[in-house]
Amino acid sequence: MIDRLFKKKDISIVLNEAGSSNGGLKRSLTATNLVALGIGAIVGTGIFVITGQAAASYAGPALTISFLISALGCVMAGLCYAEFAAMIPVAGSVYSYSYTTMGEILAWFIGWILILEYLFACSSVAVGWSGYMMSLLDEWGLHLPDQISYATFDHIGDNWVWTGSIINFPAVFIVAVVSAFLIGGIKQSALVNNLIVVVKVSVILLFIGFGISFIDTGNWHPYIPENTGEFGHYGWSGILRGAGVVFYAYLGFDALSTAAQEARNPQKDMPKGILISLLVCALLYVAVTAVLTGIVNYKELDVPAPIALAIDSTGNGLSWLSPFIKLGAIAGLSSVILVMMLGQSRIYYAISKDGLLPKTFSKVHSKHGVPHNATIFASIITGIFAGLFPLHVLSELVSIGTLMAFTIVCISIVVLRKTQPDLKRPFRTPWVPFIPLLGAAICIIQMVALPWSTWVRLIGWTIIGFIIYFTYGIKHSNLNKKL
Ligand code: ALA
Repeated sequence: MIDRLFKKKDISIVLNEAGSSNGGLKRSLTATNLVALGIGAIVGTGIFVITGQAAASYAGPALTISFLISALGCVMAGLCYAEFAAMIPVAGSVYSYSYTTMGEILAWFIGWILILEYLFACSSVAVGWSGYMMSLLDEWGLHLPDQISYATFDHIGDNWVWTGSIINFPAVFIVAVVSAFLIGGIKQSALVNNLIVVVKVSVILLFIGFGISFIDTGNWHPYIPENTGEFGHYGWSGILRGAGVVFYAYLGFDALSTAAQEARNPQKDMPKGILISLLVCALLYVAVTAVLTGIVNYKELDVPAPIALAIDSTGNGLSWLSPFIKLGAIAGLSSVILVMMLGQSRIYYAISKDGLLPKTFSKVHSKHGVPHNATIFASIITGIFAGLFPLHVLSELVSIGTLMAFTIVCISIVVLRKTQPDLKRPFRTPWVPFIPLLGAAICIIQMVALPWSTWVRLIGWTIIGFIIYFTYGIKHSNLNKKL
């Protein structure tokens, strides 16, 4: 029994599966597409919403340092992802890597955690999109009825309550639109994503470029506000807590690795895609934070749309930029949903190919070359969560799932270097085991700092996962059938 649970998939089988027929998936993504997909997945709620709140509550103008610290942790995990994605360029990402290093049951566990990450990231960003869209519609004099504008349920104190709304319609709508693009094909999805990335990066650059002249350097003094006596409230502990909070802003580069099987030249281009997109985003984030905290005093930034606030505070100076910022945010959030949904569907595809989920999820559309059933399933589940639940409930689980996945990737790199030293590694993480172990340690520290309630939900999710594995997966596993 134990043998069955920990049976490892041979890495050559994984590579063969992604070989000549490529499982029916089309290899059409170029290096530019991959960098754009990375930026598309990364830049979203984090920069448009969380920056202001983190500056106001934890780090002040020194949030720039928080962004750099957080980037460092992500780059370490990113280097490990890059080694794996170039070595094993398959759709399953961490799930497939751990199937070869840690065995079936742990692979299933991590696959299940990845579903959690992408499902809740997607649905939480869809709810954020709905909020921005409604505020734009309001500006244009259009007001949706309350019954179709908000989550149906909310979790207040210890109780679930009905909000009086039927469904958050805009959130369900954007999930449906994004799914339609994804089913249309990876090439078309990448094209839409490229356009969106151009819009959102332009909007951010406009803000940085025009905002610079409105900076009052007095707002940067003191650069590191004095700690209030409470851990995490300004000072260096505040910078660290800020780093934990803005970690969310970097999520998404990992979703890129699920598109490895659809990349033209994954060995060279996956590391480029992951690392360049991370670097570009880190630079954008630091610059936006510097301009933002330079225009408005950090104490005033705890608002849902801090960039809009900064623009408004310049009076007529930058008011022309306001609608562009909202449009940029709406476009930006759409591409985060697109790439996270892509990730979710490719994980269902990969797990189903191994027999641990029903085979229908690994069917690839003969014309479009995408796993259409997995995409439809992902969109239905995401739509249900996005339509029924509020942002704070959905976003809690995203970070813990991601941190867990990063930790496993970092540790797997060390394990695989020992167990399979001769494998062809087109990209090598530098300074192994130092970088992966430091990366894993940073992630574990951040996980431990998360609230207990998040852990309880994670445990609940894990139990459901194991029930599915022991009632379905173990019986249908391709690997176990061969035993
Ligand atoms: N990094 C993504 C965002 O900030 C999740 O929206």
